[in-house]
Amino acid sequence: MTLSLTNTAKTFPDGTRALLPTDLKVEQGEIVSLLGPSGCGKTTLLRIIAGLETPNDGSEIWFDDDNVTSLSVERRKVGMVFQSYALFPNMSVRANIGYGLKMQKLPAKEIEARVTEVLEMCQLQEFSARSITALSGGQRQRVALARAIAPRPRLLLLDEPLSALDAALREALRDELAVLLRTFDITAIFVTHDQDEAMAIADRVAVMSGGLVVQSGTPEDLYRKPNSAFVAGFVGNAMRLEGRCEGARFYLDGGTLTLPSDGSDRDVFVRAEDVALQAGGSLEGRVETVTFLGTHYRIGLSDIMPGLLTSTYAGQNAPRVGETVRAEIKPEALMLLPKSAQSA
Ligand SMILES: Nc1ncnc2c1ncn2[C@@H]1O[C@H](COP(=O)(O)OP(=O)(O)O)[C@@H](O)[C@H]1O
Ligand SMILES: [Mg+2]
Repeated sequence: MTLSLTNTAKTFPDGTRALLPTDLKVEQGEIVSLLGPSGCGKTTLLRIIAGLETPNDGSEIWFDDDNVTSLSVERRKVGMVFQSYALFPNMSVRANIGYGLKMQKLPAKEIEARVTEVLEMCQLQEFSARSITALSGGQRQRVALARAIAPRPRLLLLDEPLSALDAALREALRDELAVLLRTFDITAIFVTHDQDEAMAIADRVAVMSGGLVVQSGTPEDLYRKPNSAFVAGFVGNAMRLEGRCEGARFYLDGGTLTLPSDGSDRDVFVRAEDVALQAGGSLEGRVETVTFLGTHYRIGLSDIMPGLLTSTYAGQNAPRVGETVRAEIKPEALMLLPKSAQSA
């Protein structure tokens, strides 16, 4: 189904404006991630979509051609997965997954068939008779997912479902989830504060800040064409260059760069991987730090601007600390963005 929100906002009784008027559309089968720092309103938005929270007057929520704004949570038929699994610990995997179907009073035969189907989809067949307490965190989260999709919801909502897991498991389950969600062919919204997770799982990412969706696009769009300093910094940690701008010339301590266009009323951002160490580069600096990160080295440079980082593919030789090096940044790698309040 297609989800459309128009003018949807939430002010809590204590006056907290958790969500400012927001429009959002999610197409049939699309997987959209809501990405933003803690407290930006992600959970509030998700709970409004589920029907767990009443939005302000004037908000509208549509599932296809149905206006569901005042429909109860039960009647919206959404599936939900949360950080805490909220499974019944003393019941088997099979009984947990079948629970919602039993509540719907489906015939036992049908429950049996549907549970078997989702057990297979989520690769949980071998655990079907186990109790929840005998499962690992990753397995529990797969059961929670299976339980959410067993009633064939119109929409699947996931709120930081991987946050309780340790780093290695998180990464494995993240990639698994990306594949699984696509096999379900369901419209889904995935909330996270982790940019890698959002980029790995979603077709489209809506970045939130201060109760607003500030930019929405494919992971590639957000990474290459952020519309604000906030998005540039939050998605992929771009650095703001500190220097003096004159038209399309940008003066740093360690040299001069050419901007793609006039940068006078802009902030200039660059990503570490776009700062290339190369002989004859227009910037000169000194290697301060070299950190090995498996796929690449992260190198901290001084004398160009404080805190400038570059990233070198680990197959190459890393420079040594203290060495003088030259670096180059191609004009097309520089992102010119509206000046933000704190940089003015
Ligand atoms: N029931 C509530 N009453 C008052 N303020 C709330 C309530 N729930 C959430 N908030 C506030 O609304 C803002 C957004 O919260 P939330 O949607 O949970 O953010 P996120 O999920 O992005 O971390 C926060 O400032 C939070 O403290
Ligand atoms: Mg939250």
